[in-house]
This record gives sequence, structure tokens and C-alpha cells, in this order.
Amino acid sequence: MSDNKHLLIVYHSQSGTTSQMADAVIRGAQSPDIGNVEVRTRTALEATAEDLLWCDAFILGTPENFGYMSGAMKYFLDRSFYDCVDKIDGRPYALFVRAGNDGAGAITSLQRILKGLSVREVQEPVLIAGEFDAARLIECEGLGMTMAAGLEAGVF
Ligand SMILES: Cc1cc2nc3c(=O)[nH]c(=O)nc-3n(C[C@H](O)[C@H](O)[C@H](O)COP(=O)(O)O)c2cc1C
Repeated sequence: MSDNKHLLIVYHSQSGTTSQMADAVIRGAQSPDIGNVEVRTRTALEATAEDLLWCDAFILGTPENFGYMSGAMKYFLDRSFYDCVDKIDGRPYALFVRAGNDGAGAITSLQRILKGLSVREVQEPVLIAGEFDAARLIECEGLGMTMAAGLEAGVF
């Protein structure tokens, strides 16, 4: 349908735990209760500026590596920033992060770059740090569902 809202989910995962979080986010975003929202999923290495320009809202997921977002996520933003700056102002976004023990550096590094794109964080990041607790995937599902439902309802 042409009046569908567009939700982009971009993530990177090396050893698979951020992927599990991404799967839950996607599941939530594609909840059967939500209509009129088209979900596009890309890995950070696949994603391009065109994906960001296409979307009405986006969700990024990354592991923390060396106190920062993953190199793949940084590379996506490096490749997209200048094609998107001034063109996606105000778009709502949310983050999910997986970290061995911390995660703060991944979150703040993403928020800093995204501030430069003048986009709006509309939910608290979901951070799973330490031993991977699959019970917390429900929070990832909620993140995706809230973003899609908010887009559908026009609340963001
Ligand atoms: C090269 C490398 C650097 C890492 N640096 C950090 C770090 O700075 N802080 C942290 O909490 N965890 C760090 N970790 C742990 C990862 O965040 C953790 O293994 C995470 O599960 C990886 O996500 P993935 O399973 O989706 O690849 C690092 C892991 C790797 C491989």
C-alpha cells in the first residue's frame, strides 16, 4: 500500500548475539497486530544511504567493540552521513546494543553521530551486557513493536 510507513532495521553481529536481538526486534516490528508498516532489514555492511532516505523511522543494533560501535556500523554511517544530512531531520530512531561487560561507549558513540543527523531518539536503548540473557529478548521485541506501532499510530 502506498501509504505504508517505512521502518528500517540495521544491525551488525560477529558472534551472533546481536543477531538474536535483531531477530527479536524484527519479530516485534512485524507483529500481526500492526498494519501499514513496511519493515526493511539490512546488515550494516549491506545498508546504504538510500535505506535511510527511504525510512520514516529506524532502529540500529550493534555490539560494543573497543568501547565503540562496531566497525561495520561506523562504516555504514561513514558511507551514509553526507547523503543524509539535512534530509532526515527529526526521524525517530532507537538503539539496541550487545556488550561483553559495558555498552556505554557503543551507545554514546552512536548518539553523538546521530545527533549530527538531527534525528530523534524516541525510546531508551536496549542494552544486554554481560552473560547473554535470552530472557531479555522480550525487551528487543518490545522495542521493535513500539516503534512500528508508534509509526502506525503517527505518535512519533
Ligand atoms: C574485538 C572485540 C572488542 C570488544 N570490545 C568490547 C568492549 O569494548 N566492551 C564490551 O563490553 N565488550 C566488548 N566486546 C565483547 C562484545 O561486545 C561481545 O562479545 C558481543 O557479544 C559481541 O556481539 P555479537 O555476538 O553480536 O558479535 C568486544 C568483542 C570483540 C570481538
